[in-house]
Parts: sequence; C-alpha cells; structure tokens
Amino acid sequence: MADHSLLSVRELAVEFRADTGTVRALDSVSLDLRPGRVLGVVGESGCGKSVTARAILRILDRNGAIVAGKILLDPGTPTETDLTALNPESQAMRGVRGARVGLIFQEPMSALSMQYTVGNQLIEAIRAHNDPGKTVARQRAIELLRDAGIPRPETRVDAYPFQLSGGLRQRVGIALALAGDPDILIADEPTTALDVTTQAQILTLLRRLQQDKHIALMLITHDMGVIAQMADDVAVMYLGRVVEYAPVQEVFHAPRHPYTRALLRSVPDLRATPRQRLATIGGAVPQPNARPSGCPFHPRCPEVIPGRCDVSPPAPVPPGEAGASCFRLEDAA
Ligand SMILES: Nc1ncnc2c1ncn2[C@@H]1O[C@H](COP(=O)(O)OP(=O)(O)O)[C@@H](O)[C@H]1O
Ligand code: SF4
Ligand SMILES: [Mg+2]
Repeated sequence: MADHSLLSVRELAVEFRADTGTVRALDSVSLDLRPGRVLGVVGESGCGKSVTARAILRILDRNGAIVAGKILLDPGTPTETDLTALNPESQAMRGVRGARVGLIFQEPMSALSMQYTVGNQLIEAIRAHNDPGKTVARQRAIELLRDAGIPRPETRVDAYPFQLSGGLRQRVGIALALAGDPDILIADEPTTALDVTTQAQILTLLRRLQQDKHIALMLITHDMGVIAQMADDVAVMYLGRVVEYAPVQEVFHAPRHPYTRALLRSVPDLRATPRQRLATIGGAVPQPNARPSGCPFHPRCPEVIPGRCDVSPPAPVPPGEAGASCFRLEDAA
C-alpha cells in the first residue's frame, strides 16, 4: 500500500467572480498526495498554486467557487469523502482542517496572533481537536516546539510571536500546523520570505518531520531549486492547469513540457517578483481574465504549432498518471 493516495484532487475547476466577469483560476487540476512523499507544485506567480491549496482546505475567498471536480480524502477506502460536497463551515470540514490537513503559510504571521503567546495559540489548536486538558496540552505544545527545532522550548512557549525571529516564527507556524496531528501537510511557499540560510534550515526541518511522521506533503514553490531538494513528484502549473506531472527525476532529466523546460532554463531567475519575465522565454503569465485561446502557453511557447496550439487546448494529463498536456507529446505518442 506504499502507493495509495491520502488525498486525490480530480479534474478540479475553480472560478472567481470579478468586476470584469468570471475568471477561471483552475481548470481540470488533478493531483495525488501520498503518505511519506512530497509533491512539489511549481509555477510562476499567478498560476493557481495557492488557489489549489485553498480549494483543498475549502478556504477560498468569498467570490470564488469550485465549479467542477472532486477532492477525495481517503480515496478508495470505506471512509472516502469528497470535500467539495462539504459545507466549508461544517463540523466535518473543520475536522479535516488541522486534524487531517495542516497548512503552513508563506508568512507565518498570517497564522499567528500578536496578542497571544506562542503556547496559548498552540494549546488552543491542540484542544480544538482532541482536548487532553490544559496541563497535558501545554506539555504537548512544548514538545511540538522542540520537534520544530526551537531551542529552549520550555521558555519560548511563553514568548509572543513578535519576540521571535522570522525563522523561529516559521518554526512556530510549522508546530501550529502539526498541532492537530495531521497526516497531510500543505506548505505554501513556506520559505519565500526567509533569508537563504534560514530557508535551507526550514526545508531540512520540513523534510525530516515529513519523513518521521510519514506525512503526505504538498510543497508549493516557484523555485526549481527547492523542487530539486525536496520533491518526490512534481506538478508543474501554468495558468490554472497542471501542464506536467511526473517523478522529480523525470522532470529534471527528461522534461516533457515546453514550459517545464523554460522553468529549468531560468532557474537563477525564479526568485522573481510576480509576473516577472522568464529569462529565456518571452512574455509574462497572462492575467486569467485574458486567458489565451487553445493551449494557454501558446503565446510564449518556443515550440508552438501555428493553427493548432492556438485553436483548441491539448488534453489534460490523465489523473493519476505521469505526463504532460501538449500537442507535441500527443503527436509523438
Ligand atoms: N479572490 C480572488 N478574486 C479574483 N481572482 C482571484 C482571487 N484569488 C485568486 N484569483 C486568481 O487566481 C489566479 C491564481 O492565483 P494564485 O493561486 O494565488 O497564484 P499562485 O499562488 O500560483 O501565485 C490569480 O492570477 C488570480 O487572478
Ligand atoms: S500545445 Fe503547443 S503551445 Fe502548448 S506547450 Fe505544446 S507545443 Fe507549446
Ligand atoms: Mg501563491
């Protein structure tokens, strides 16, 4: 059963209502989160990585909605649950958040309050799911801080977040995500806000926790270097679609999709500001409300087939399989 999936996203589509009309932010997204494995989700800013994470947790902005597809928790088991069928505010969905799926943010302060001590926030999260009483919860909070590599956790438990460095705060964010003992973790650019040294330490910590606890980790990043260091499998996203899905070795040694190849060529430039140009490829990610016809990548694609790629989109990668969404691969097959 090494290969079973804890959470399977299937052909998920998300739309937002905006002043200018309806924007499709996700289109037929499929992915699998497996125990003990890291799925790296990579793509430039605006490609739908965070929307995917927020859709799974049912915390989309109010103007957003899931319009197609399924999010299956424990697929193929007697307890299989389609999260898209749950009310986001329901007790069942609250139970999923935290106790099954933990979330780590780019900016730990979005999960932490300035007004409460680290310990009180952890104790609240621990007691929300399985209340062991205050004394035990405090002890557990200290253990969580120790697991997250925080020195002197017995003292730090009484600190306020503003008294901690950015790196320590992100460690507290990780401890908080683990407070409900989830078997799935989603980390949305968890190191983007940190300096390079701290970034490496946090990634090492995440990898160790994920392996020790056999967690299914979905790691969102725009950095192919982070993918190389961390991922077992990779989903490359472009304009709301998974354009390539494959084991990490294949992505680096035999990339299938022209966009993946472009990302690999531009590695030094990937720590870029939103919508900054890729170094070796023209143009920027179009706004979702200006989605190109046909293959969404065709205006930037060095391998575009005129009269074909701009007419209709290539088929999505079949769910559960490795592959890419590109006419050139369809033709080669
Ligand atoms: N609340 C919203 N209203 C309208 N559009 C949104 C909203 N949130 C996200 N989007 C759209 O979804 C697209 C994908 O966003 P996001 O998932 O945050 O990208 P990424 O995390 O890959 O940088 C954005 O380009 C944006 O247009
Ligand atoms: S379908 Fe055409 S435009 Fe899209 S990635 Fe493949 S070759 Fe490029
Ligand atoms: Mg994002």
